[in-house]
Amino acid sequence: MVKIGNLTLSTPVILAPLAGISAYPYRTINRKMGAELAYLEMISARALTYLSRETQERLRTYPNDRPLGIQILAKDPYYILRGLGQLKNYEFDTLDFNAACPQKKITSNGKGAALLKEPKKLNSLLKCLIEGTTKPVTLKMRLGWDNSKDTLRIAKGAADTGISALYIHGRTRQQGYRDGVDYGTIAKVKKALKIPVIGSGDILTAELAKKMFDQTGVDAVTVARGALGNPWIFREISELMKNGREIPRPKTSEVTSQMRKHLELLVTHFGEKTGVIRFRKFYIWYTRGFKQAKPLRTQISGIRTRLQTLDLIKSLAKKHP
Ligand SMILES: Cc1cc2nc3c(=O)[nH]c(=O)nc-3n(C[C@H](O)[C@H](O)[C@H](O)COP(=O)(O)O)c2cc1C
Repeated sequence: MVKIGNLTLSTPVILAPLAGISAYPYRTINRKMGAELAYLEMISARALTYLSRETQERLRTYPNDRPLGIQILAKDPYYILRGLGQLKNYEFDTLDFNAACPQKKITSNGKGAALLKEPKKLNSLLKCLIEGTTKPVTLKMRLGWDNSKDTLRIAKGAADTGISALYIHGRTRQQGYRDGVDYGTIAKVKKALKIPVIGSGDILTAELAKKMFDQTGVDAVTVARGALGNPWIFREISELMKNGREIPRPKTSEVTSQMRKHLELLVTHFGEKTGVIRFRKFYIWYTRGFKQAKPLRTQISGIRTRLQTLDLIKSLAKKHP
């Protein structure tokens, strides 16, 4: 069991926020395979303030979509407070603050991982969030801005603000996605903090999830890229952690059935045009490892309708009986 403030999770494997991806259909697919807490993609506090149609779309959820985390990106208490005001009309369970995003368009604006250079400012923003909401507030950080890695000091300072848990991606902003995950530093952070520490980085297979738990002692892990076209990873991690058993990879029939369900959810949620467009990248992810699927993957970019997509899923089944 993991406790994030007043939120108790029975599953220590969390669906990470993924910009452009973590909409309701994606969360649903992964929840069915065992993800418990799932996040919306990051939303800026400023966007919450203005609540455009696009932002409202990102916030769209349903009663079965719980427990649900919202992650916000901000650099300014003014927008945090206004954004929190708008969130009063939404149902969710926990609020994460993003000090991890390494993208230049975000960091050049003083947000995301850029706040790791300004721990005092980061902590004042966390305090502002904690005072402004009744939900448990968490922080997501990277190991640091650059190789100087001030990880422990930043993590301890953030924990002192009263956050309920710390998410930590085991790379610096400078590393992006290069190099291996630094399990040793995550382990030090876990040892130093009393609040739950949740490990992120390269949870791409059940074995790598186990490695994160074993080498760092973290309370939970988040699955990000590892769940793209691979919701089975939640079932596989659970089986390996609970029973030490490896589950065989899904057969083609299970993959194609999952693809159809995912497509239908996307079409129902977004309408046919947008649903089909959003499914295209999932088609590529679901068919990774299928050797005969290469020509099908090139066709997917030209597909416009639900029926054409279903045909292309059928073709996968024919090529890989
Ligand atoms: C396409 C993409 C979008 C992402 N969007 C977010 C986001 O909105 N918020 C966030 O905190 N992290 C985001 N991340 C980072 C992941 O949540 C995760 O921390 C990172 O990918 C490391 O985990 P992994 O190696 O298991 O993928 C994103 C990553 C990718 C690849």
